[in-house]
Amino acid sequence: MSGPVHSLAARYYTDPAIFEAEMLGLLSRTWQLAGHVSQIPKVGDYFAFEIAGQNLFAIRGRDSEIRCFYNVCQHRAHELVSGSGTTRVVVCPYHAWTYELTGELRTGPNVKSVPGFDKSKVCLTEVCCEDFNGFLFVNLDPQAAPMDVWFPGVREELHAYVPGIDRLAPLEWVEIPEKCNWKVSVENYSECYHCSLNHPTFASGVVKPETYDISPLERGYVLRHTTECQDLEQMTYPIDLSVEHAGEYRSWFLWPMVSFQCYPGNRLNTYHWRARDVDTCTVWRGWYSADGAEDQVVRDLAMQDRETTVEEDIHLVESVYRGLKSKGYKPGPLVLDPECGVNSEHSIETLQQWMREAVDG
Ligand code: FES
Ligand SMILES: [Fe+2]
Repeated sequence: MSGPVHSLAARYYTDPAIFEAEMLGLLSRTWQLAGHVSQIPKVGDYFAFEIAGQNLFAIRGRDSEIRCFYNVCQHRAHELVSGSGTTRVVVCPYHAWTYELTGELRTGPNVKSVPGFDKSKVCLTEVCCEDFNGFLFVNLDPQAAPMDVWFPGVREELHAYVPGIDRLAPLEWVEIPEKCNWKVSVENYSECYHCSLNHPTFASGVVKPETYDISPLERGYVLRHTTECQDLEQMTYPIDLSVEHAGEYRSWFLWPMVSFQCYPGNRLNTYHWRARDVDTCTVWRGWYSADGAEDQVVRDLAMQDRETTVEEDIHLVESVYRGLKSKGYKPGPLVLDPECGVNSEHSIETLQQWMREAVDG
């Protein structure tokens, strides 16, 4: 009989060469959250963002479609846009080459004087993007399989759990810098073996911790968190139980860096991460309301979350990261309870398998 499964070797988290390999590999061929379609509602609206160290922007065309491009001029590489805004055409700030909202070159000063200049050969470099229930995802791999292949059923489940999802817009995205490798933060999010000791409000909050479970791999690159809820009468906000799934909690972690969470009352919030360098990452907690309108219930939930779970987790992940650099650390056995449950680390086993495959093939 084989012995226990051991946690991932420390070098996967601390070695800059492994981080480089992840940036060029894993993080450049997986679906990452770029933003929300409500940020660019009108023709010509755009915003710039960064994925896997690459500067990109999303822009809405005259056909209403959102397209994403590398944020680089095809003349001599100046960046095209910064921040967010709205424009009729994309004009490079360096020599004023001008691009259509679909990426084709329209014109540039004096280019007609160039013998054989063929403007149809010049086009911005587009990247794959998908509108996933209003969330804009990008994958730098031109051959990327669609999100429904990566994350089977999640689009539909989210719709069922959050019937108003198509009208949601961000109310706040809280940015949390963490001094740890991104994988430490993602692992910490994905297990609840640490919850009873470290999240005292958790036991009295939304969920019944003893029923919390994170499914081992079903299909696709998704980890589903499920739990029973506490007495819904005691919730701090009203819940219309006539709506399907209103009494449930559910979360979908989409490998490698995004998670959707649905609280009772069909209320959505999100986590998403960016790897900064081998030693640091950023986490965003996203909170949403109908059309982004002011909503005190959401604000209160966000604040409570920030003051408890978020604050408690920062100390855990930063300590773990210092520990991973200790010469005294030998990776220990994972606690894989055959019955699964809140005190099992099955989800870590799955995540670490994906992490190994990403680096070792
Ligand atoms: S680099 Fe953009 S116009 Fe020259
Ligand atoms: Fe936690």
